[in-house]
Amino acid sequence: MEEINTSVGFDQRLAKQDVRGSRAHCAMLVAQGIISKADGEAIQEGLTRIEKDIAAGAFVFKRSLEDVHMNVESRLADLIGAPAGRLHTARSRNDQVATDFRMWVRAAIETLGDEIRKLQSVLIDKAELEAATIMPGFTHLQAAQPVTFGHHLLAYVEMFGRDRGRLADARKRLNECPLGAGAIAGTSFPIDRTLSAEKLDFDRPMANSMDAVSDRDFALEFLAAAAILATHMSRFAEEMVIWASAQFGFIKFSDAFSTGSSMMPQKRNPDAAELVRAKAGRVFGNLFSLLTVMKGLPLTYSKDMQEDKEAVFGAFDTLELCLAAMTGMVVDMKPDAARMKASASAGFTTATDLADWVTQKLNIPFRDAHHITGRIVKFAEGKGCDLAELTLADMQMAEPRITQDIFSVLTVEASAASRTSFGGTSPANVRAQVEAARKRFLGHAL
Ligand code: ARG
Repeated sequence: MEEINTSVGFDQRLAKQDVRGSRAHCAMLVAQGIISKADGEAIQEGLTRIEKDIAAGAFVFKRSLEDVHMNVESRLADLIGAPAGRLHTARSRNDQVATDFRMWVRAAIETLGDEIRKLQSVLIDKAELEAATIMPGFTHLQAAQPVTFGHHLLAYVEMFGRDRGRLADARKRLNECPLGAGAIAGTSFPIDRTLSAEKLDFDRPMANSMDAVSDRDFALEFLAAAAILATHMSRFAEEMVIWASAQFGFIKFSDAFSTGSSMMPQKRNPDAAELVRAKAGRVFGNLFSLLTVMKGLPLTYSKDMQEDKEAVFGAFDTLELCLAAMTGMVVDMKPDAARMKASASAGFTTATDLADWVTQKLNIPFRDAHHITGRIVKFAEGKGCDLAELTLADMQMAEPRITQDIFSVLTVEASAASRTSFGGTSPANVRAQVEAARKRFLGHAL
């Protein structure tokens, strides 16, 4: 029974929140005349000592005492004797754990928000440096159109911005206090739930005592936001792996972020990126674990819900690690601008520019221009050359009205520079977006 029932091995991570919750509850009980001032003072003093021990890592958690709540309460009894028994008046572990855990998730959200912001910050700096670095943009992992590396990096800044938004949103909704719901039905003691909620920086007490002790939406929302964040990091990691391959050769990692092979001396493996890509699996697993735990539970509390914590702790630890690794890799990676540019020219990536020129300059409908361009691309393919290497006569075989001017749009630089529509890839846009991103993302906490 002890083996399966105990949770103190992991829920001791709630110790700080547990003491804080008890302090607020105790102060409220005194304010409402439910326990005496003297008992309240003794309890607060005992909790101060416990708090110090916890901070110093000196608190001894006993598995036989089941969970963090019982451990703290039992230690309080050792320290102050009889008054300790009054702390749990008008409280149950059901509202207590829900309160502790909400506070923990709230802090975790703030920490992650900070770490995501750091990642955004290094991405924005890199994007500024690489605002005019030309690379191939892909669809279907086939070279599509020339883009700038800075633009590509800023795409991730947007994704991570939405991740912060989702976390901030979850934080808003979770910030209601379950304390005072009791085991399920509320209490006959004249408690003041608004007071304890305020002391714990919650916006208000939760309105329904049954919901208060049985809800784990906040943990699920955290995990869902975590899973999407992990997806973004995994996609980015995948791109890093591709870019760092010898075949692409777009970026290099220093020894700090790559490893050698025990057999093949030429290898530089992007292990950190691969692990970030893989660790998304854990976070998805954590989300699914808790969804599965919750989906069939009748109201209100069931012990099943004790399984909520490891899922959330695991996702948090994984994300912290991956965010730190990603931030390090972004700073570390060195783009090879020459290779990127050469690759951007391969595969007729300025064919759209050619079609756009024909549409605009010759007033030919885009669908027909597309057809004309197709014939020119085929011709270049046959000749084994780039579009820019064709002669004017070659072009005119497909459409006699084409003039020399067409060659001005066929270089990868001209192509990228012409994408000045809002949100487009031109270096000028990227520089403006770098400034905008600094204002939008770096000035505030969540
Ligand atoms: N350790 C428990 C948990 O994490 C605390 C709540 C226990 N409540 C109860 N009615 N047994 O869920």
